[in-house]
Amino acid sequence: MVSEKMLTNLKRSSWIRSMFEQGENLRKKYGADNVFDFSLGNPDLEPPQTVKDALKKAVLSDTPKMHGYMSNAGYLDVRAAVAAKLRQAKGVPVEAAHVVMECGAGGAMNVVLKTILNPGEEVIVLAPYFAEYMFYIDNHGGVPVTVNTDRETFQPDAQKIYDAITPKTRAIIINSPNNPTGVIYSRDSLVKISEVIEKKQKEFGTSICVISDEPYDKIVYDGAEVPSMFEIFKNSIIVNSYSKSLSIPGERIGFIAVNPRISDTSALMDGLIFSTRTLGFVNAPALFQRILPESLDAQVAVEVYKKRRDMLYDIITKAGFKCLKPQGAFYLFPQSPVEDDVKFCNEALKHNLIIVPGTGFGFRGFFRLAYCVDEKTIVNSQKAFEALAAEYR
Ligand SMILES: Cc1ncc(COP(=O)(O)O)c(C=O)c1O
Repeated sequence: MVSEKMLTNLKRSSWIRSMFEQGENLRKKYGADNVFDFSLGNPDLEPPQTVKDALKKAVLSDTPKMHGYMSNAGYLDVRAAVAAKLRQAKGVPVEAAHVVMECGAGGAMNVVLKTILNPGEEVIVLAPYFAEYMFYIDNHGGVPVTVNTDRETFQPDAQKIYDAITPKTRAIIINSPNNPTGVIYSRDSLVKISEVIEKKQKEFGTSICVISDEPYDKIVYDGAEVPSMFEIFKNSIIVNSYSKSLSIPGERIGFIAVNPRISDTSALMDGLIFSTRTLGFVNAPALFQRILPESLDAQVAVEVYKKRRDMLYDIITKAGFKCLKPQGAFYLFPQSPVEDDVKFCNEALKHNLIIVPGTGFGFRGFFRLAYCVDEKTIVNSQKAFEALAAEYR
């Protein structure tokens, strides 16, 4: 019953399942307290109280048609509230007419790709990357083209992107703050990419869309700047969600915003709304749209993530692992002491450490630690990291 293509995709993503299963086995054998699971980017902080209060109010509301179908783009007042926030943050005149409410950033990315891709067109993805991009691009007949970022700084290299752009390049996905590195791409790197895109668009007479995937835009430390993609890239679309900023990933609420500087946004908006409908999402969840106008100023306790970043960074660097200290998201991406990161992560399991090989993010020789886990897990993992590091001295 299952297609050949699906079998290939299942095989490609089987390491995720295998990690999960190995973690479960370890927990059964040693008890959850003795297993240090840094594998999942599943936010463990509670949603802000504002969100809970707004939700209670929405649940108890007797407003007629609270749970009915709506315009496929979402409630107009919610789109307007999201647009107002973006106007403030991005420095461009975003209106409700540029916003479509979506089922998380994952849903949003699929809607964008379905809308803009012709079969066989190429999408540039900067490695290391969020692994699901490969499947999303494949879902809509696109071809992923991977371009590595710098192995020391994880900043994108404009020259490499220049070399990768062909007449078939339709889009480039940019994810900053980044999963898996936590790195925020600098304004300088992004401006250089925009110059490269301009040049190539002229050379080939094409239009290349920058899709900015921003679910970690609020999880930022040390006062770091996340440059506005709408200011830097004219042909840009933001996909975002409240999964991480409000700690509600299970509720599947996010949005797409198109840059008002795009010459004609109306056909694009029509396409995005059509794709939202025909991919079967129909519209973003009604209840969680309702809570947004009151919740847009709220965010999870970022200082808790920052403390964990500092603690885990100290533990692993003192143990001897080489690691960049990133300023966003909730991941560290240290270097594996051996190039075979899969073997290394299997070795880590012997110390009850569940960590993910960089290969899973298209970047061999590294590993990812997700620190959205409680402090106790981080503190108690110290001996395990030290013992693991000692094996490679
Ligand atoms: C980079 C990136 N993009 C998109 C997503 C999907 O997020 P959502 O829950 O909003 O679909 C994730 C989730 O981990 C992510 O890390």
